Amino acid sequence: MSWIDQRPDDAMDGAFTAVAPTPPISSVDQAAFRDAMARLGAAVHVVTSAGPGGRTGFTATAVCSVSDQPATLLVCLNRRSNSAPLLARNGVFCVNTLGANEEKLADMFAGRSGVHLDERFNVGEWTTLKTGSPVLASAVIAFDCRTLDVKTVASHNVIFGVVEAIRLGPPGPALVYHERLYKKV
Ligand SMILES: Cc1cc2nc3c(=O)[nH]c(=O)nc-3n(C[C@H](O)[C@H](O)[C@H](O)COP(=O)(O)O)c2cc1C
Repeated sequence: MSWIDQRPDDAMDGAFTAVAPTPPISSVDQAAFRDAMARLGAAVHVVTSAGPGGRTGFTATAVCSVSDQPATLLVCLNRRSNSAPLLARNGVFCVNTLGANEEKLADMFAGRSGVHLDERFNVGEWTTLKTGSPVLASAVIAFDCRTLDVKTVASHNVIFGVVEAIRLGPPGPALVYHERLYKKV
């Protein structure tokens, strides 16, 4: 049986249990996968969190809508990132989708300018919605989420969040990462 085979638990509602061996096996090497993924343009977000674990944020493109009833999305976070234990402890996060002119913020929250976790919030105007996670006032959209579930898959935690509040920021072009460059859409 291949690792992508799935065993239906309940044919009526489409639920399933994956039967992947642990760890998953792929014949595609890391460099080939990364080069392929570089061709896939994706919106750039700063995912933030605040609570008993402390305040943090990181740049992410691995964000995806899961369901609109209840409103649910997912974020993939490298388990080795400094933010991972803080998000786990806080149990809340906010996905801030960046506008076209926020490359510097994206680089800073990606750790590219050497600015550490909490200090990253010295740039930009920040507010909060329901969960207390930092909301970037200039973000095109902010999805304020409470963690519903976390699945560990290979190097990453797939964090599912129920959206508790949405803030629509100033409309305008969005920032996209494509072919390892920031682009404006
Ligand atoms: C455009 C871009 C997209 C990224 N997307 C993700 C992502 O989806 N998930 C992730 O874990 N890291 C992603 N990263 C890397 C993290 O932003 C980076 O590893 C992290 O912020 C490192 O800082 P920290 O460990 O100090 O938090 C991305 C980086 C960039 C520049």
